[in-house]
Amino acid sequence: MLVAQGLSKKFGDLTVLKAVSVEFRSGEVHALMGENGAGKSTLMKLLAGLYQPDTGTITWRGQPVYWRSPMEALAQGIAMIHQELMPIPDLTVAENILLGREPTNAWGWLDQKLLQAEAVAWLKVLDCHLDPQTRMRDLTVAQTQVVEIAKALGRRADVILMDEPTAALSDHECTALFKAIRQLCQRGVAVVYTTHKMDEVFQLADRITVLRDGEWVTTQPASDFTPASLISHMVGRDLATVFPALTPASPEVVLEVQALTREPYFRKVTFQLHRGEVLGLAGLMGAGRTELVSALYGLLPATSGTITLKGQPVVLRNPADALAHGVGMVTEDRKGLGIIPGLSVQQNLTLTALHRFTQAGFILGAQEKQVSQAEVTRFKIKARGLTQPIRELSGGNQQKVLLARMLLDAPEIVILDEPTRGIDIGAKSEIYALIGQLTAVGKAVLLVSSELPEVLALSHRILVLRQGDLVIELAASAATPEKVLSNAMPL
Ligand SMILES: Nc1ncnc2c1ncn2[C@@H]1O[C@H](COP(=O)(O)OP(=O)(O)OP(=O)(O)O)[C@@H](O)[C@H]1O
Ligand SMILES: [Mg+2]
Repeated sequence: MLVAQGLSKKFGDLTVLKAVSVEFRSGEVHALMGENGAGKSTLMKLLAGLYQPDTGTITWRGQPVYWRSPMEALAQGIAMIHQELMPIPDLTVAENILLGREPTNAWGWLDQKLLQAEAVAWLKVLDCHLDPQTRMRDLTVAQTQVVEIAKALGRRADVILMDEPTAALSDHECTALFKAIRQLCQRGVAVVYTTHKMDEVFQLADRITVLRDGEWVTTQPASDFTPASLISHMVGRDLATVFPALTPASPEVVLEVQALTREPYFRKVTFQLHRGEVLGLAGLMGAGRTELVSALYGLLPATSGTITLKGQPVVLRNPADALAHGVGMVTEDRKGLGIIPGLSVQQNLTLTALHRFTQAGFILGAQEKQVSQAEVTRFKIKARGLTQPIRELSGGNQQKVLLARMLLDAPEIVILDEPTRGIDIGAKSEIYALIGQLTAVGKAVLLVSSELPEVLALSHRILVLRQGDLVIELAASAATPEKVLSNAMPL
């Protein structure tokens, strides 16, 4: 019913889609798979009217169409949920969900009651019980994602394009979303879907299209793929996700946290982190993991308790304090805290390490450029050049820039909050290898990840948080998915 025929798209002289043809059917979940920068988001944006194709046609219900804007596509029943969310911070949850179609009463006034009620109803479909009066700015990434999905549901679109909708969601939220997606399909909606989570594709997709370097590779029923065959189509070679072997940690304590508290997020958290150790923080969404590590990075200072770094008690009021004490972090919220969209790849890379390239107030341009280029090569960051605005990079490549930036500060303690979110399978194993290298040279890593296999395979020890309480510490050898989950679940 929605057909892409020979779609091509260029940005400057970079061709990012080359004559791609795919047919999307109603009642079907169609997964678009490919590595970072393969062109998945671009294809979706063409279908949703955000970009216009250079060549090729889009046919919708048998008619060739040309969307000049997302509004035109939306009016015809095609909605897109973006990879990098762009909510309006001042709106309430209800206003955002009903944006542009606010209910009015007999006098033409906004009907607040109806507005709230309808918003609540759509959220409930996703098993979400957020207060509809909350401002969008106060939501976590996961909550924002759920609200955006509710918004698309509410528009009763015939096609919903979802660009990595579960990247920020917990297992529980994913389950609710999958249920909602299946209901949509039963009602005849076509769902187009991207994800970097392999298990998810096989749970959800009816058919899979693989893109590589902007080219169509194959479209087949999901049941015709195995995880291995899918990956080899995506990367063009055989590849297994490999976790590095753990080198034993040293007994030296580099970080000690005692009775650290910031209500209502976490309370009386006590643990030690050793040199060369990966300490995993597991827990459900909202368990307080991000808030806890934010306290250790000075973003959300604790209100009581102590932090001791290498034997010295410290107060971390802001990230500058943390950096000065050798604590670096890559945040979960890539868009809000991480990248500066208007700046170039190089400017984003050297942002916090700029002092290294400054002498007597002058920036040593050549040196800055050389270091940036080396990082781009090391992390295989796919960009047109160092001067390309970072907002133009694919999501996974933005994440790599953030990691590279943090490591340029040469921190002793590395906090990684969902480091592989939105990152393709090839880049994931590169990041796993990197974590292995970091600990081998004596850095200590605090790893927050919602991908359980990842935490289990990479960590020496795992702390499980539940609703702000540290409930158990598990040695890697004793940790199983069941054990972690049963401790993470609210009582
Ligand atoms: N507005 C833009 N201007 C210039 N280049 C762009 C723009 N948008 C995307 N690109 C480039 O097009 C290529 C494809 O990007 P796209 O976002 O479609 O990848 P993707 O498959 O969605 O990757 P990811 O899995 O990382 O999200 C990338 O190399 C990216 O840098
Ligand atoms: Mg993308």
